[in-house]
Amino acid sequence: MPEKPTEDARFYGRRKGKPLRATRQRLLDTMLPALTLPLAGLGEGERLDPHGLFPRPVDQLWLEIGFGGGEHLVAQAAAHPEVGLIGSEVFAYGVGKALSQIDETGVDNIRLWPEDVRQVLPALPDGCLQRLFVLFPDPWPKRRHARRRMIQPARLDDFARLLADGGELRVASDDMGYVRWTLMHVTAHPAFRWTAQGPTDWRERPADWVETRYEAKALLAGRKPAYLIFRRRPRAAVPGTLAEAPAGEGADNNP
Ligand SMILES: C[S@@+](CC[C@H](N)C(=O)[O-])C[C@H]1O[C@@H](n2cnc3c(N)ncnc32)[C@H](O)[C@@H]1O
Repeated sequence: MPEKPTEDARFYGRRKGKPLRATRQRLLDTMLPALTLPLAGLGEGERLDPHGLFPRPVDQLWLEIGFGGGEHLVAQAAAHPEVGLIGSEVFAYGVGKALSQIDETGVDNIRLWPEDVRQVLPALPDGCLQRLFVLFPDPWPKRRHARRRMIQPARLDDFARLLADGGELRVASDDMGYVRWTLMHVTAHPAFRWTAQGPTDWRERPADWVETRYEAKALLAGRKPAYLIFRRRPRAAVPGTLAEAPAGEGADNNP
């Protein structure tokens, strides 16, 4: 079994909420074991073969971190049967909700990690991901909690290792402090560039981006989210210093 990360024990919010409905609990008991990533069988330093996880060959592998109720994860899996999706979520209620949607839709291209995603990241091979989604991460707005944020330098190093050249990191948030934090850290990382050419590129939800529960809540409350897409630079072209990063990218785009 992978070790529990020690970096910050309270990295995420709650794991358990209201009691699960009997049907969801049954899905957790019966369906989840077959869909759970087989991390327990890995030896020291061994990595998963992600393409062997699915019942048929997949062209690409995508990862969603903190999928909440699984709306986005399941909709993307249904829209892209040629893609294998891994979803990680610590909140048992959300995992149960995702399982009932997987059951209803019959999608077979999702694998789950119902625990901290920091246990999955080291088990995946370099460059295996074409897309990585971090949608409406917990904002941890207090300065003293900043190290619990999903977007931070150590995690971006993980993401840079895992994303294939040209792969996408998609981050959304309705918390403008978190949006600025994300832009500051991701654009400072030499492996990433922000793809936005102008404000509409981050103010409007891209057509293939499925609305999540937190996004719907934010919109209902009148908060306009930012939708950020970063591209992993080709490894050969990653500049050694920030000063070599191309000028002008993301210019005039400040949220
Ligand atoms: C604010 S919610 C957003 C949920 C969903 N993405 C949405 O937009 O509706 C953030 C989610 O990230 C999950 N989360 C936080 N840290 C996590 C971690 N280390 N591993 C897996 N999930 C995590 C939380 O349990 C929570 O459900």
